[in-house]
Amino acid sequence: MSTSLEMKKIQKWYGGLHVVRDFDLYVDPGEFVTFLGPSGSGKTTALKMIAGFEQPTGGDIMLGSRSIVDVPPYERGIGMVFQNYALFPHMTVAENVAFPLKVRSVAKAETEQKVRRALDLVKMGEYRDRFPNQLSGGQQQRIALARAIVFDPSLLLMDEPLGALDRNLREHMKIEIMRIQKELNMTVVFVTHDQDEALVMSDRIAVINEGRLVQVADSNNLYYNPKNRFVASFVGESNLLPCRVDQIDNGAGKVTIGDREPGVARLNGQSRGDSGWLFVRPEHIDISPRGANTDVGNVLNGVVESALFLGELTRYVVRCGNESITVKQQNRGQAQFANGSPVSVSWNMGNSTVLN
Ligand SMILES: Nc1ncnc2c1ncn2[C@@H]1O[C@H](COP(=O)(O)OP(=O)(O)OP(=O)(O)O)[C@@H](O)[C@H]1O
Ligand SMILES: [Mg+2]
Repeated sequence: MSTSLEMKKIQKWYGGLHVVRDFDLYVDPGEFVTFLGPSGSGKTTALKMIAGFEQPTGGDIMLGSRSIVDVPPYERGIGMVFQNYALFPHMTVAENVAFPLKVRSVAKAETEQKVRRALDLVKMGEYRDRFPNQLSGGQQQRIALARAIVFDPSLLLMDEPLGALDRNLREHMKIEIMRIQKELNMTVVFVTHDQDEALVMSDRIAVINEGRLVQVADSNNLYYNPKNRFVASFVGESNLLPCRVDQIDNGAGKVTIGDREPGVARLNGQSRGDSGWLFVRPEHIDISPRGANTDVGNVLNGVVESALFLGELTRYVVRCGNESITVKQQNRGQAQFANGSPVSVSWNMGNSTVLN
């Protein structure tokens, strides 16, 4: 049975270093939540506290209605997969997968049935008598996954489980993990610093920076409504232009972009006179010949600094005064702009927000 997980004001100090700060997070039963953040932001530490390998300095962790901070790791009923999928080298695949059941003194017949089911789930049934060094990296990773789920854990933790795999295998494993999670309706906390992985796999993503949960949201919300400059730049590609709010009109901000260009953007709690960063995604910007009629609120004149034709889209960098603006234009057979072309870039107010 899947269960809920709740982190309540979780803190972790290592000596004078505050590594996890005030984590408050509720994960629904059956939900797939990803911790996404740069190296050193505290992802693994947070996971270790859930698993029981590290003790929180403060706060509480609940699995369902039960506090687990004083429960030893092996009694928490949590499955785990780590980046270096350390299988036991002297045990066969079947013995590796059976290990968690053996530790729990599960009867032989039941063990056999559960091992078979777990191996079938990861499509490795035919490999049960091999040893780990006779398997590819991706196969080993699937065995590690089978071992983590064989005892029907109420929660599955995965710390960069795809890190060691090449791109094709990663893609494949991504889909496998998503399939198995749905099939077993498992609650999952997954750790990665790969935003694409996070966006594809997760019900919700918890963005972590310097030990803090910066924003917890589904992929769509995170991408279109990032809470601040850090999230905007960490998830997807963004333009972040320095700006100042000159006037507020019905919730919309009239802004000055850079030193001089007027613009309009949605506000995110700023007041008149505040400075911030005007956020707009490259695919929300149009590029047109200088002086073409545009009536969208934000128009800057500039010169094409680079143009990269990528087939389905062209990626332009346009220099407008002091700012370089990245534009991604979907290609539908239209004319391309060469380096040095005078152009205008424009975007709707609704596609831009002032962030702090
Ligand atoms: N046992 C420890 N003693 C002291 N400091 C530690 C210990 N473990 C981790 N740290 C520090 O805590 C911070 C967070 O580490 P953590 O391993 O949680 O980061 P992470 O987000 O998992 O990074 P990565 O993406 O590189 O795996 C880092 O600054 C790290 O150096
Ligand atoms: Mg880590």
